[in-house]
Amino acid sequence: MAVVATGRSGGAGSALERAPENPLTAGLERLPVPPTTLVIFGATGDLARRKLLPALYNLAHDGALPERFHLVGVARRERAHEDYRAECEQAIRRFSRREPDPDVLAGLLEQVKYVSGRFDEESVYERLAQVLDSFDERAGEPLNRAFYLSTAPDFFATIVGHLGDCGLSRRAEAEVRVIIEKPFGTTLEEAHALNRRVLSVFSEAQVFRIDHYLGKETVQNMLAFRFANGMFEPLWNRNYIDSVQITAAEDIGIGTRAGYYDEAGALRDLIQNHMLQLLCHVAMEPPVNFTAEEVRNEKVKVLDAIPEPTPEEIPGMAMRAQYSSGHSGGEDVPGYTEEEGVAEGSRTETFAALRLEVDNWRWAGVPFYVRTGKRLARKITEIAVTLKPVPHLAFSQDGSLGVRPNQLVLTVQPNEGVSLQLGAKIPGTRMVIRPVNMEFLYGAAFMSQSPEAYERLITDAMRGDATLFTRNDEVEAQWRICDPIVQAWAADPGPLPLYEAGSQGPEEVGALLRRGDHWRAI
Ligand code: BG6
Repeated sequence: MAVVATGRSGGAGSALERAPENPLTAGLERLPVPPTTLVIFGATGDLARRKLLPALYNLAHDGALPERFHLVGVARRERAHEDYRAECEQAIRRFSRREPDPDVLAGLLEQVKYVSGRFDEESVYERLAQVLDSFDERAGEPLNRAFYLSTAPDFFATIVGHLGDCGLSRRAEAEVRVIIEKPFGTTLEEAHALNRRVLSVFSEAQVFRIDHYLGKETVQNMLAFRFANGMFEPLWNRNYIDSVQITAAEDIGIGTRAGYYDEAGALRDLIQNHMLQLLCHVAMEPPVNFTAEEVRNEKVKVLDAIPEPTPEEIPGMAMRAQYSSGHSGGEDVPGYTEEEGVAEGSRTETFAALRLEVDNWRWAGVPFYVRTGKRLARKITEIAVTLKPVPHLAFSQDGSLGVRPNQLVLTVQPNEGVSLQLGAKIPGTRMVIRPVNMEFLYGAAFMSQSPEAYERLITDAMRGDATLFTRNDEVEAQWRICDPIVQAWAADPGPLPLYEAGSQGPEEVGALLRRGDHWRAI
């Protein structure tokens, strides 16, 4: 028997037994997770080390893993089980959001196994099957299995194919699931082919395509905000909303990921997935209920309402740029093409912005501005919804100067929260108005640290809840919007705008705006 899910006070149910730390979250029960063996392909990679292993540790810390839980790492290099365990420990110590508790950590690592080999070798899957069977035998019952594909995307189809060939895609009396990391294809055609391959082995209900933004508390809160309050929804349409601006700015460069990033670029890396998801959360209709099918049906409808950009439209609705050297985080940093591993003269964009329209009854005519970039002034992910101006200004000329349209800003990270910009009178004898902010800060209100996105996503996948995962038609609808732009940019030999590292981004991005609109300061 394997017991890894020992929360600090022991046993998977420990989180419930402990006195609640925070009165605002009291009464929240953890949803039970059935006994599961989780297999991570690409177990020694960056994502596994930085995100997956620390997430598993934190789940164990909270007593949120199932009582029978096993972890199997699969990767190319030879190593003994103990060596892999030591690597896991090191990664958890370095990247966990909490200081590891020695007992919880030891409990988690105790049953970790490692299988080495190339992902295209059949023998790897045979050895893996033996390990999985041995866990089941010891448990005396077939345990659920979840295969996490955290490898380079080139291997996704290969691994899925081998899992099918070796009979690992189904198990009598147990659930088998496959979790697939991004990028899901690099073009519409590739995404479609990958979907076909995956769905020839697994059923859609078994597939969990990761978009880690969906696991972020604040992204989920957008739905609570819209659909749990009577206040906003009546205004949430073209009659009251003037524009929507979604920003995902990062101050970091590309780090050691040149190999991936130089092929991907900003549009594929962030807009095709995370940012279109944020847009869907702003624009979707209220689902009938919060089941995976209903929520995803509504998101697909939004994506379907965004017209596929034509070659003639693209120069006016999409722009890209690349960072040059500059100053960021208190130090001088090189330009993109000077980064290690970037191809000489690379034209990969590190900044991308779009003006999109959602052509449906609710949103027709409202611009959705979307922008993202590396090496910008700071890290900020936010959605700013600007309302239409009031129809008539009854104040004297001086007072009217300070009146601005209301703006609602949902900050996804950092300083998660919601702020509403209102016009208020400046105290004094004259009627002079200025904007003020009404703020809700997540951290202050709930006094707790939000779990990492991967903690939520891993648990949901093990529970078989696909609400926070991208469905096959959804991922293809995202590509349908982005693919024409990717193609147009690849074929365009024109000059590539540059922006200084650490700056607000390229000036040229202003050209996407409707007259009178502004990009918010980053
Ligand atoms: C990843 C991208 O999907 O998201 C990275 O590949 C990016 O380039 C990251 O840095 C941003 O995630 P987060 O959670 O830090 O906003």
